[in-house]
Amino acid sequence: MDQLIPDTTYYYVVGRQGHDPAGQGTRLGDVGSFRTAPAPGRGAGFTFTAFGDQGIGYNAAATGNLIAGLDPAFHLHMGDLSYANAGGSGKTGDAYDARLWDSFFVQNDPVASRTPWMPAIGNHEMEPWYGADGYGGMRARFTTPDNAWNQSTGIYSWRYQNVGLISLDGNDVCYNTPANLDYTKGKQKKWLESRLAALRADTGIDFVVVYLHQCTYSTCHDNGAELGAQQDWAPLFDKYQVDLVLSGHNHVYERTDPIRAGKATRKVASGDTVDPVKDGTTYVVAGGGGGGLYSFPAADTYLGHETANDKSVPMVVSDRSGHNQTVKVTWSRVRYTGYCLVAVDVTPAVAGRPARMEVRSLMEDGTAVDRVTVQRS
Ligand SMILES: [Fe+2]
Ligand SMILES: [Fe+2]
Repeated sequence: MDQLIPDTTYYYVVGRQGHDPAGQGTRLGDVGSFRTAPAPGRGAGFTFTAFGDQGIGYNAAATGNLIAGLDPAFHLHMGDLSYANAGGSGKTGDAYDARLWDSFFVQNDPVASRTPWMPAIGNHEMEPWYGADGYGGMRARFTTPDNAWNQSTGIYSWRYQNVGLISLDGNDVCYNTPANLDYTKGKQKKWLESRLAALRADTGIDFVVVYLHQCTYSTCHDNGAELGAQQDWAPLFDKYQVDLVLSGHNHVYERTDPIRAGKATRKVASGDTVDPVKDGTTYVVAGGGGGGLYSFPAADTYLGHETANDKSVPMVVSDRSGHNQTVKVTWSRVRYTGYCLVAVDVTPAVAGRPARMEVRSLMEDGTAVDRVTVQRS
């Protein structure tokens, strides 16, 4: 759909050519609705939500219902959507059941029928039987903005009010699941830099948020952190002062202290404020959308349950040959092993007070796990 009027509620019925939704045969439950965004600069603030690794089941439905309760302007899904490809290696030997896609949409329909879901591509979306990149199934099921060089592969950029957003395909830089490693032949990196430069040059945009499946930084060892993202993309996140990077892939919640040049710049506890201009980029892993949980090598530490967290923690990364290396890091500030989502409340600049984003993480019952304010100097 295009040419929609800003700040307007639309009602719709899914039907067929020639079907009259006002005529007989339409039940009230068939009528969906959604509200379009206010025109840029006209909004009074908004909330968006995010998680990855949802799958299908009790916890997946619970985090989905939590989205509905928050009534966000949009929801970001950081990949590993239905797990129809259960194997997730992107190879033809993976176990695959296409019917899980149907269950996924039935589960999420009550929320996704009124709130836009903006997906990033995970390793479980590589379905090697469908297209050279394995994304034929994604292209058939999702339409995303087509402003990158290749259409509907999960690489796209958009804006909502004063926030610029970029979705990346982490399979392009993933050394331990290399089915699509380097498949863009450097094009994604070039496109990323041009998008970051354009968004930062836009005076109507206060914050730049990047979302992708794989973790640039994480201390969860199940899937580790991506050396490819650290080497290829983190220097660009530094250069363009990206405010927030959201990912999934590790089925836990983790927030870093602000990082620049691979190092923590200062300790930011729950409740504190980060200044991305001075401090660097905050990285959040929110992979507790519903899939089976992973674990951390160090004790959980989160709002109201802080544990001693002054020592370094081991991070595992794969190198290009697939060998694991362990590196000690100090930036793992909040760790929570449980189902959760991230809710970001965006407030525009008013009466001399700068714009801010309050990034909250919530358990599936709505209890707060973490809270940090992002405000640029
Ligand atoms: Fe996953
Ligand atoms: Fe994953």
